[in-house]
Amino acid sequence: MEKAHFKDKVALITGSSRGIGASIARTLAAAGADVALNYRRSGGSSEDHGNKLCEEIRSLGRKALLIQADISEKESVRKLVGSVTEYFGRLDFLVLNAARTPFKPLEKLMERELRQLVDTNYIGNIFCIQESVQELAKSEGRIVFVSSLGSRFYNPSYPLGSMKAAMESVVRDCAEGLRGKNISVNAVCGGIVKTDSFKVLRQLWEEIEYIPEYLFVEPREIAEVVEFLLSPASRAVRGQTIVVDHGFSNRLYQPMVKK
Ligand SMILES: NC(=O)c1ccc[n+]([C@@H]2O[C@H](COP(=O)([O-])OP(=O)(O)OC[C@H]3O[C@@H](n4cnc5c(N)ncnc54)[C@H](OP(=O)(O)O)[C@@H]3O)[C@@H](O)[C@H]2O)c1
Repeated sequence: MEKAHFKDKVALITGSSRGIGASIARTLAAAGADVALNYRRSGGSSEDHGNKLCEEIRSLGRKALLIQADISEKESVRKLVGSVTEYFGRLDFLVLNAARTPFKPLEKLMERELRQLVDTNYIGNIFCIQESVQELAKSEGRIVFVSSLGSRFYNPSYPLGSMKAAMESVVRDCAEGLRGKNISVNAVCGGIVKTDSFKVLRQLWEEIEYIPEYLFVEPREIAEVVEFLLSPASRAVRGQTIVVDHGFSNRLYQPMVKK
């Protein structure tokens, strides 16, 4: 549903060619925002999905732009944000959604994998914040980071969890650090969502087969909380991480059923 607050505002969503990022893009476009989509790998299915999504959003009467950029590279992020401001003339919302991880224990990561993990999921997100601050400050902008339950619970094949924990702390820091610029910063911590990365995770984590269906989260359920954090209704929420997991993390033991 279109909402006055989002009309003519511009959202940049990193890693939005597919999965949760694509759902966030659709949700914000439906609310009235123009959208900048981003992906990393040129020439593959991600680019195809991104182009289709771009057309879908334009058919709603919104502006949309698909930009290839690797957030782990400072120059690439500079060009990403530069392309957004050149095309749309402004930036109101930054959604830090892109993530990339090997699914293996931390202690088994090769040096290259470890550096890529930190470069994309910690340093890359901070590059995005740094490069966007000037534009966001012009519009009392908002930043939302997409975290996961790995930030607070152990999973042997999910080294991304430690980066999510670090970023939840960055969210708190930036909420205070950017207060003077009237930029609000919060996070959404999602439970388990059946995206492409879930297909890999289920091969490594056989207990996933025992999780009841009602505890899985739909991409749009995360997207709707992102929309809330970008809306005036959340103006008193600062530096927080909202858990969206159907209560999966509420108790130590869940009724588990083999499907
Ligand atoms: N799936 C879950 O269960 C779950 C639960 C909670 C939170 N989350 C979080 O939600 C976010 C999206 O998850 P998802 O499952 O939808 O992911 P996904 O399907 O794996 O999609 C990841 C997106 O990020 C992009 N990306 C990866 N590395 C990038 C980089 N260096 N620069 C720019 N873009 C990059 C990918 O583009 P390419 O395809 O071109 O590489 C793709 O568009 C992530 O932050 C994830 O940790 C996921």
